[in-house]
Amino acid sequence: MPLHLVDHPLMHDIMTRLRDRATTSDDFRVLAYRVSLFLVAEATRDLPIAEGTVETPMETAAARRLAARVVAVPVLRAGIGMLQAFLDLVPSAQVGYFGLERNEETAVARRYYEKVPGDLGNAVVFLLDPMLATGGSAAMAVEGLKARGARRVRLVSIVAAPEGVERLAADAPETEIYTAALDRGLNDRKYILPGLGDFGDRLYGT
Ligand code: PRP
Ligand code: URA
Repeated sequence: MPLHLVDHPLMHDIMTRLRDRATTSDDFRVLAYRVSLFLVAEATRDLPIAEGTVETPMETAAARRLAARVVAVPVLRAGIGMLQAFLDLVPSAQVGYFGLERNEETAVARRYYEKVPGDLGNAVVFLLDPMLATGGSAAMAVEGLKARGARRVRLVSIVAAPEGVERLAADAPETEIYTAALDRGLNDRKYILPGLGDFGDRLYGT
């Protein structure tokens, strides 16, 4: 399965501060936004464009415009931390939501909310979820998107565990993963190591 490990010196600095347990929620939110800008830029690199023209104050110039229906689907809660970056780079995107929550004992995700545009067959779909741990949440979300016609989903994550990558490769091998870090693995509570802790809790200070 395509795994894109997005790399940039500025991202390393942001990731170090995201991982730092001393980082406060208000800084964490800004850092999540900033790293998401890099990830979204990379994940959208091959979007189709249409050739045209634009009138500058001087003359007519050749121009290129985005020519794709783009749908972004953040997974509640943590994916919301990546949405503004996505919309700042792709303002025309439609937005859908999946509410997924892992059971604290079993780490198995359950879906509690879904509001996703129908007929995704002609859309380029981006799933936004910063943590790919067991892969259960992402696999459930991709399945839900495919049920709405999505042909190929791009998962934009911030930290991924090998277990989650393997799970998606088995359940939804056509999914492309864009991530800033491929970490060592999971602990016995299915948290990513070294990871950055509970993303949603750190984002919202809960
Ligand atoms: C976190 C994270 C992912 C999921 C990843 O959400 O945002 O959605 O865990 O874990 P998985 O790969 O093992 O499924 P969580 O269930 O903690 O909910 P929250 O975003 O509301 O905190
Ligand atoms: N969800 C998180 O927020 N962090 C992890 O390490 C795993 C799942």
